[in-house]
Amino acid sequence: MLPVPTINSFVPPHRTLMGPGPSDVYPQVLSAQSRPTIGHLDPLFVGMMDELKALIQYAFQTENEMTLAVSAPGSAGMETCFVNLVEPGEKVIVCRNGVFGERMRQNVERIGATAVVVDNEWGEPVSPQLVEDALTAHPDAKFLAFVHAETSTGALSDAKTLCQLAQKHDCLSIVDAVTSLGGVELRVDDWGIDAIYSGSQKCLSCVPGLSPVSFSAKAVEKLTQRKTPVQSWFLDQSLVMGYWGSANSGAKRSYHHTAPVNALYALHESLRVLAEEGLENAWQRHQNMHQTLKAGLTKLGLTFVVQECSRLPQLNAVYIPQGVDDAQVRQQLLSEYNLEIGAGLGALAGKAWRIGLMGYGARKENVALCLRALEEVLTQ
Ligand SMILES: Cc1ncc(COP(=O)(O)O)c(C=O)c1O
Repeated sequence: MLPVPTINSFVPPHRTLMGPGPSDVYPQVLSAQSRPTIGHLDPLFVGMMDELKALIQYAFQTENEMTLAVSAPGSAGMETCFVNLVEPGEKVIVCRNGVFGERMRQNVERIGATAVVVDNEWGEPVSPQLVEDALTAHPDAKFLAFVHAETSTGALSDAKTLCQLAQKHDCLSIVDAVTSLGGVELRVDDWGIDAIYSGSQKCLSCVPGLSPVSFSAKAVEKLTQRKTPVQSWFLDQSLVMGYWGSANSGAKRSYHHTAPVNALYALHESLRVLAEEGLENAWQRHQNMHQTLKAGLTKLGLTFVVQECSRLPQLNAVYIPQGVDDAQVRQQLLSEYNLEIGAGLGALAGKAWRIGLMGYGARKENVALCLRALEEVLTQ
């Protein structure tokens, strides 16, 4: 028999999370998660799920019936949108201006569909003109897919205009809102978004591992008219909806998978906090904190990757000054200040830092700590 390992309970330190996510979790969300686990078909839990659905609808600003939280992280939300809607052989215009647009392309190709890639420079938003050109050149395209808030660069794209273009060319829009939800303006119904997914660990300041998604009536129609079955059993929304159900239909919930009960308590609490603050107030708070951070970073001589007009307040990518050791600075911030900032990703690896101001993390104490710590470390 193998010897019994002596391992202590894992007790992580209190870090301040100012990277690209996960962000600082609201204390009340952490305590909500530690409440007693109940059965996932317990009537009280089902009632909580109905409220959770209404809260997700509020955060997305949608009345879409097919709105729920996928029991897995943002990548599964991405996959949910693609595998349910796109069928082999179909054509998708995929906008790529960073890491996550490229992941969309990979999702499309794995389905056996064709991705027509519209490339923009890293750090730039998606160009509506290039998208319009691609839609015109490919009248057989069925979808337009893009990332609203590109976390790898900090660029915000004009989702409203892009979705209008999709509608004009009779395409369904698939939108990545993993980093945008709760941090910048996002209006699913007003902007005509057809399929959208997000993540719990960014501006919602919830624990990681859940992905709110929503499908418009047109997207649901596309799903119901599929000629081929959805190749993923777990992510097949027509099956999952039997579990999430319709709040008012009175239909009985049937078992699909065991919901992450306690994580859903956490999401319920974080969205409740967001609703209590009010979406527009939350968007404004992110903007205000960004302005304070920007002023301090500029004083330190740091310059931004993204131009001001398309810069995300919640993800501040700044170039690493010449001669500064990227890894050493981040390590020192972590060990001496318990502060995490993000490394550059993909084309920006080793060239930029990504400083997150997300959800509960978008507050004065965090901005002050980050500026003081960076100043001290960089002066050394
Ligand atoms: C824009 C974007 N899309 C998708 C993802 C994937 O989400 P997750 O890491 O929760 O799977 C991320 C994660 O950072 C992201 O920033």
